[in-house]
Amino acid sequence: MSIEQTLSIIKPNAINKNVIGKIIDRLETGGLQVIAAKMVYLTKARAEEFYAIHRGKPFFNGLVSFMSSGPVLAMALYGENAIAKNRDIMGATNPANAAPHTIRADFADSIDENAVHGSDAPDTAKQEIAFFFNRNEIFIR
Ligand code: CMP
Repeated sequence: MSIEQTLSIIKPNAINKNVIGKIIDRLETGGLQVIAAKMVYLTKARAEEFYAIHRGKPFFNGLVSFMSSGPVLAMALYGENAIAKNRDIMGATNPANAAPHTIRADFADSIDENAVHGSDAPDTAKQEIAFFFNRNEIFIR
């Protein structure tokens, strides 16, 4: 068991569905604390930078245009095993494979518009949190 931080993004389709509160409730009920939060519009260039690891993949261009199609809510989450816990609460990347009652099972529209993003490992969590937040914007209680 280790105390971790991870990045969560509520994506434009979930923002459009007006389910920000429902998604945060699942994260908090699941044992995670929101220690930073910011609603931002990602330009295409910023979305490309965030998802640079996927550049060249067939879904890259669609992913970038979707992520810059409207505002997103970026959050840093904190808690025991926060990275894995967040991924469990989100469910599988493809909502067709997501376990019942996970965020993606309930709010995703497709693998491309899958409602939320979560960091997949400690090094990416660190990079992704730093992409959105300065140290003075993170509040650990
Ligand atoms: P996310 O966790 O934000 O990371 C990259 C995103 O690319 C992923 O969620 C999906 O929304 C999207 N995507 C589309 N097709 C695929 C795919 N075949 N494999 C992984 N991610 C995909």
